[in-house]
Amino acid sequence: MALSPVLESKRLTLQGQLDSAKTLAERNKLGQFPTPTMLATDILEYARTLLPPAVRIRFLDPAFGTGSFYSALLKCFATRRIAAAVGYEIDPHYAQATIDLWRGQALDLRLMDFTHATAPASNADKFNLLICNPPYVRHHHLTQAVKTHLLQAVQRATGLKLNGLTGLYGYFLCLSHAWLADDGLAGWLIPSEFMDVNYGQPLKTYLLDQVTLLRIHRFDPTDVQFQDALVSSAVVWLKKTPPPVDHIVEFTYGGTLAQPVITKDIPAAALRDSSKWTHYPRASIGPRPDRSGLKLADLFKIQRGIATGANDFFILSTDQIAEQNLPRECFIPILPSPRYLAADEINADIQGDPLIDRARYLLNCNLPEEAVKRQFPTLWAYLQTGVAAGIDQHYLCQHRTPWYAQEVRAPALFLCTYMGRQDTGRGRPFRFILNHSQATAPNVYLLLYPKPNLALHLDHHPRRITAVWHALNEIQMETLIGEGRVYGGGLHKLEPNELANAPAEKLLAVLPELSLNPSGQLRLLEEQMPYDVHPNTKHAPAAVARVQKAATRTQASKVKRKGTPHPSQGTRTP
Ligand SMILES: C[S@@+](CC[C@H](N)C(=O)[O-])C[C@H]1O[C@@H](n2cnc3c(N)ncnc32)[C@H](O)[C@@H]1O
Repeated sequence: MALSPVLESKRLTLQGQLDSAKTLAERNKLGQFPTPTMLATDILEYARTLLPPAVRIRFLDPAFGTGSFYSALLKCFATRRIAAAVGYEIDPHYAQATIDLWRGQALDLRLMDFTHATAPASNADKFNLLICNPPYVRHHHLTQAVKTHLLQAVQRATGLKLNGLTGLYGYFLCLSHAWLADDGLAGWLIPSEFMDVNYGQPLKTYLLDQVTLLRIHRFDPTDVQFQDALVSSAVVWLKKTPPPVDHIVEFTYGGTLAQPVITKDIPAAALRDSSKWTHYPRASIGPRPDRSGLKLADLFKIQRGIATGANDFFILSTDQIAEQNLPRECFIPILPSPRYLAADEINADIQGDPLIDRARYLLNCNLPEEAVKRQFPTLWAYLQTGVAAGIDQHYLCQHRTPWYAQEVRAPALFLCTYMGRQDTGRGRPFRFILNHSQATAPNVYLLLYPKPNLALHLDHHPRRITAVWHALNEIQMETLIGEGRVYGGGLHKLEPNELANAPAEKLLAVLPELSLNPSGQLRLLEEQMPYDVHPNTKHAPAAVARVQKAATRTQASKVKRKGTPHPSQGTRTP
């Protein structure tokens, strides 16, 4: 082994000094988060097992930093096996000190932007071992000019059209194709998000069609690899050679590359049909375990709660409303963040307001500014404080007319908290809430509105509302986690369409009359109902509509007494 431990410890000291001379924001801009020594060694050790012993190494790291991978290369491979070692680093702050650090080693470190470098023309000059932890720079931090350059360069290198939402790491991966020698090996330490999102599709196509995808290892997100960059990372191993027929890819999870906790072989054909690769290796291949095929989307319309654009301004307590003497009829109840809900079942007072400790109210006024000024002078004065604070210039407010108008979300009988960790006191990242109140909900909840067939059913069997709620909470946490995505540090998240995709078999158990026939009876039933699915319409079944109707009645009667039009008149339905 060629590296003295002293040199690695010098490198780590240098890394610490260089990092601490920059702010976190500066490091974020160029994705400057180093790979821990143990992980770099794990990666290079694994690379050694994949390379035939006689092969001499031509090594490339396109995002070099201070050279954690180069250091691990020297540790894991004898010097005589290393024919060439090249690195690219865009930032002189790191590159200059790094050149000094490795002086005396046969390293060619180039101080330039890798995305503008030209790949060697001949196969002999290309690289047979490429290891990279590319910058994790999100697409909205790339200027349009940079994006245009990157998209064109990737198209030249691979023929692929990447999605404009791709982060910089995706471009690094594709651009490196031109730098890899035939049969060359690449190991990429990248965020695993590309495996599940639409914009990751071209990258997955690249991995399945243009190279042989050997293995994807995902780290356990609770075992965060990068203390200062919360990402859930994966190592993607590929070989630059066309994939064999019936190719099988190894998916591993947890532990280390050498000793993963779970391993499963997945046929490339299954990956082609799978929109979520992070299901592997935990998911079984083949049909869903849900025998009925029924999904939550068949029973519920699912929407995210209200994004106000400035919660502190638009959501107030009773005391705040009283202090400012604001008109109570311009506010509707809204649930507080789930962390302030002591119980998962919310009861209501006679007005329909939730019986909870932290009652909150959302400004709900769509009247034009002139009308507010005339009818509700104290509210007008309050809005002026918002203008002075620049709230009318917030992105969402700018796109609304008037700027203080809010989205409309009828109170939902069932809600889901869709962001959370498994290691919390409750041990469940997602909870379903049963809401008997007239409160709407902010965007930290997903709102589940029963579709007409279910709403009608619950109307006839109101006691089943609680049974449905329990059944929702009985959906296996693993199943919901599998539908969603996970971020570094173990934060799980579910988008509305991901929750909609969750199996609803548990609900069928408590709704026997709604069992599906093979031709999809539920859908048929729904088609026969000639009314809008939105629970806010006058045709919606009473079980779902009554909450909203009661709310509207209360609002309307209050306003009628004043003889003024209702402040939320003209609101849009979701
Ligand atoms: C995630 S760090 C990895 C550093 C090192 N390889 C490691 O694993 O510890 C990414 C490095 O790429 C550099 N970088 C960012 N954009 C680059 C570009 N366009 N060309 C070359 N290097 C770049 C950053 O300055 C940073 O040092």
